[in-house]
Amino acid sequence: MSERSDGSPVEEGARGPVRERFVTGADGVRLSVAEYGEGPGDAARPTVVLLHGYPDSKEVWSRVVPLLADRFHVVLYDVRGHGRSQAPAPLKGGFTLDRLTADFLAVADAVSPDRPVHLVGHDWGSVQGWEFVTVPQTRGRIASFTSVSGPSLDHFGHWIRERVRRPTARHLAQVLSQGAKSWYIYALHTPVLPELAWRGPLGKRWPAMMARAEKLPRGDYPTASLPRDAAHGAWLYRDNVRQRLSHPRPDPRPHVPVQLVTPTGDPFLSVPLYADLERWVPDLTRRTLPVKHWVPRTRPDQLAGWVTEFVSRTDRESGRDGERGSDPAPTGSSKVPSVLGKGRAEAVERFGGQLVLVTGAASGIGRATALAFAEAGARVVAVDRDGEGAARTVELARRAGAPEAWPETVDVSDARAMEELAIRTSADRGVPDVVVNNAGIGLAGSFLDTSPADWKEVLDVNLWGVIHGCRLFGRQMVERGQGGHIVNTASAAAFQPSRALPAYSTSKAAVLMLSECLRAELAPHGIGVSAICPGFVATPITASARHTGVDAAEQQRRRDRSAKLYKLRNYPPEKVARAIVHAVQRDLAVVPVTPEAHGLRLLSRLAPGVARTLARVDPPL
Ligand code: NAI
Repeated sequence: MSERSDGSPVEEGARGPVRERFVTGADGVRLSVAEYGEGPGDAARPTVVLLHGYPDSKEVWSRVVPLLADRFHVVLYDVRGHGRSQAPAPLKGGFTLDRLTADFLAVADAVSPDRPVHLVGHDWGSVQGWEFVTVPQTRGRIASFTSVSGPSLDHFGHWIRERVRRPTARHLAQVLSQGAKSWYIYALHTPVLPELAWRGPLGKRWPAMMARAEKLPRGDYPTASLPRDAAHGAWLYRDNVRQRLSHPRPDPRPHVPVQLVTPTGDPFLSVPLYADLERWVPDLTRRTLPVKHWVPRTRPDQLAGWVTEFVSRTDRESGRDGERGSDPAPTGSSKVPSVLGKGRAEAVERFGGQLVLVTGAASGIGRATALAFAEAGARVVAVDRDGEGAARTVELARRAGAPEAWPETVDVSDARAMEELAIRTSADRGVPDVVVNNAGIGLAGSFLDTSPADWKEVLDVNLWGVIHGCRLFGRQMVERGQGGHIVNTASAAAFQPSRALPAYSTSKAAVLMLSECLRAELAPHGIGVSAICPGFVATPITASARHTGVDAAEQQRRRDRSAKLYKLRNYPPEKVARAIVHAVQRDLAVVPVTPEAHGLRLLSRLAPGVARTLARVDPPL
């Protein structure tokens, strides 16, 4: 931890020495600037400027800085009137976007005189960022822009105009919804009252309100300067918003690539606000996260990962890192057939950079699922007791587009091994955003032919494996407090009784009920739970499924027969993988996959008597 000259902490936990200085911005206003990591001039260390929003100071970035400072020259500054920066006098008219642009240029020139900087803005830092990347005077001074929870006022103005000019029901609903979320903007336009509130009760209560609303640990953020920052910052709105929304500039196109991070649970900004963005921004990378407004506080890991990837990519593509156009990732994605097809773009937006753990990932549905998330740009942990198979999945996942992928050789029925896996994963890679408990085995044979050992084997893997995964990773997700999703692979056998599959069907019915119960319990934590129920899917499960009560020759004959039938049915595991990705995107509770699974689910509801009659027929497994 570094200390200010007055002894108070600057950045909790930030790595490396911090250098503080003052830079003179527009109208002679002195701006407080902090720098981390190596200085400029080193080609391998691009400069990343992090710009805070309202009501914040640069300390809002304290959880992001340590994750970037190893790789980048990281620069923060307090916007005029905030933190340790001087306030303009008079305040009125002192916060116009042209003054803020001049401040930014002064800082960029001071910290990186020879190379353009990469800009990351949150909230009003992002609103300012949009201005910086769309005005001519910053050309050549900015290399890329990552926007988090803060729209361009020009784009916002055009967005309203278009919806008011073509008032379809959907357009009006969007304007009204955003209008309701913007209540605080009207409030900040009233004179004096916001200042009184911030310097009085609101300023005192804000830290607790923030902590509760965003599920943040209480600490030394927000800082003691909050009431003053918030009172001054009201002028950001008053000096700019009304004027710019009513008269947006005609062609606000950025001159740099833009990465847009949209938290889908933002109480202040609705997702449709960004719907038209491709019109203005041809080079746009979209990312979404199911969290609220303060992404730099709640998901610093994810944000830092996206910034790292985007900055490295834009520098590589522009040749700033000396390797123009080269692609360092051994993707070769053309060699791995696409699992997602048309759904790729949406999946990339939703899962890019997220951590996804899949069990039973060495084969069949698990491998296809790992590859689907890899194609969406997720970081993948492929878990299987078949270590070689998991390693092969990891190799394919990297080629399919996973920025990182790791194999884990673990038996899901082993409680201790699963506990170690959970500890290792969170320590080395973070808390998974999505966990797919998919590992499973087949067991066929009548109830009277099924021994306690057979029952134990199938329940240990198919049910206990899922319980361990849900319990360990569900707890991690709850403790992180930022949502997540758990997928459990059940089966159509969970809907349909069968005289030939008592143990397997029981295990899958239990997985279905477990998923429903857990879904109810985890919903208040923003964690979704889905049960996937496929019918017959062409995977190697038929070759490994055991048949009880028969000799080895008969077992082989039955395996061959079911393998042949599954092959004839020819339903590919990739379609199940797509259904899994879709289930997470839409937060679906129970997802039958294949027509027979839909049919059996309907039958169990509408004609259970028929289902019971069917149960007496031997299925092909
Ligand atoms: P698969 O046999 O191709 O893949 C299952 C994977 O799970 C294998 O890589 C295997 O090594 C792994 N595994 C098994 N026991 C494990 C353990 N104790 N610990 C770690 N890994 C273990 O089978 P498939 O078809 O891909 O099955 C995946 C899931 O889908 C299973 O839960 C299965 O019950 C379920 N399912 C499969 C259907 C099908 O028709 N193939 C239909 C409905 C559900």
